[in-house]
Amino acid sequence: MNAERKSGKFITFEGGEGTGKTTQIQLLAEGLRAQGYEVVTTREPGGAPGADSIRSLLVSGATDKWDPLSECLLLFAARREHLNKTIWPALRQGAWVLCDRFSDSTMAYQGYGHDVPKALIQSLYDAVVGAFAPDLTLILDLDVETGLDRANARNTETASREDRFERLDRSFHERLREGFLEIARQSPDRCAVISADNSPDVVGASIWKTVESRLDTRMAGA
Ligand code: TYD
Repeated sequence: MNAERKSGKFITFEGGEGTGKTTQIQLLAEGLRAQGYEVVTTREPGGAPGADSIRSLLVSGATDKWDPLSECLLLFAARREHLNKTIWPALRQGAWVLCDRFSDSTMAYQGYGHDVPKALIQSLYDAVVGAFAPDLTLILDLDVETGLDRANARNTETASREDRFERLDRSFHERLREGFLEIARQSPDRCAVISADNSPDVVGASIWKTVESRLDTRMAGA
């Protein structure tokens, strides 16, 4: 698959559990829309009909329900649908696409967390996504304990059963955090690490500044 020509920007949000990605995506979307940009928000796994069906297989049930490699294959199948049906069409129309998780989550969760060989994940990326990549990846970083407390409180409040990954043990989440930071070190031009240990407004301001400086857009209110 060749890289898709695009006029909009593709921004991905990454990080461990409870880092506040969902809130921050909404804040950035509102800010960009106020500046006149067309914005599409989406998430992985999911973001297209077939991908949403795969999501429901992945996010609930026993933690050992899937072998990590099967998990990778399902994630990349969902990603292919998401790219074809949602992300690439929106970018071609000039929209900015803000995506809650993308391939760095597979490298962090299945690669660093579950020991799927990183070269294999990279091969799947090359086959499924090709030369296409996010224009900017915001990695929300937070200590594991605070993140899991936040995620558990949210799940109790919303009675969510999408907690299959959150129930993995503490050392898994520590490897995950290190994995995201390592990904940021390896791709400094694409990635920015944002401290999520602050109020949503403060984190939002830091994201706004980063988007403005990295993507060279003129945005008021920074
Ligand atoms: P998400 O809905 O973003 O959950 P949260 O808002 O709690 O962060 O993602 C669902 C789960 O799927 C999450 O626990 C991480 C996991 N996941 C992977 O393990 N690999 C992936 O490639 C992706 C996209 C998600």
